[in-house]
Amino acid sequence: MKFITNIISIALLLFVLQACGGESADQSASNSNETQEQGLSAFELEHGIGPVSERLAVDAELDEEMINRGRNIYEMKCEMCHNMEGRMVGPALGDVMERRSPEFVMNMILNPGGMARNHPEGQKMLQEYMTVMPFQNVKEDEARDIVEFLRQQAENN
Ligand code: HEC
Repeated sequence: MKFITNIISIALLLFVLQACGGESADQSASNSNETQEQGLSAFELEHGIGPVSERLAVDAELDEEMINRGRNIYEMKCEMCHNMEGRMVGPALGDVMERRSPEFVMNMILNPGGMARNHPEGQKMLQEYMTVMPFQNVKEDEARDIVEFLRQQAENN
């Protein structure tokens, strides 16, 4: 009999602990103004999650050297899965700079797995394309060069 009482009290204790845990998690979410959908900040919702966590200074004028470097990397590491127009393994990128911010595109390049797992836009794309974009071993400044190349493509559209 004592044994059963012990089991019941342990079960009760676990139940109470779990209930408390849940409550405090809810509270911490509603206490922070920054947390919104899926616990992401407003910046992350608009510009993605990854190493780029603040707005970049992007000159309205295009930089030819960056475009050339970006084009080279794009041809080696991206073209096998992306068209400028029309879907392939991944979405068309000819108009991506009209749809997404430079920071979003860089975070997508630098943290594609995290975007697919933890960002609502990444999750939507994963559902549509059924492939997680692989990280292509691109450095942050190279990702910035690719953005410049994609900006140029968007202008030529
Ligand atoms: C093996 C195929 C593959 C390669 C290689 C690849 N991608 Fe992707 N990419 C995808 C898929 C699939 C998606 C859709 C998101 C997902 O499901 O992970 C995507 C999504 C994207 C997006 C988001 C597009 C949008 O509409 O928001 C960008 C930007 C992008 N890729 C850029 C690149 C760049 C730049 C490279 C080269 C460094 C690259 N990708 C290499 C498959 C690939």
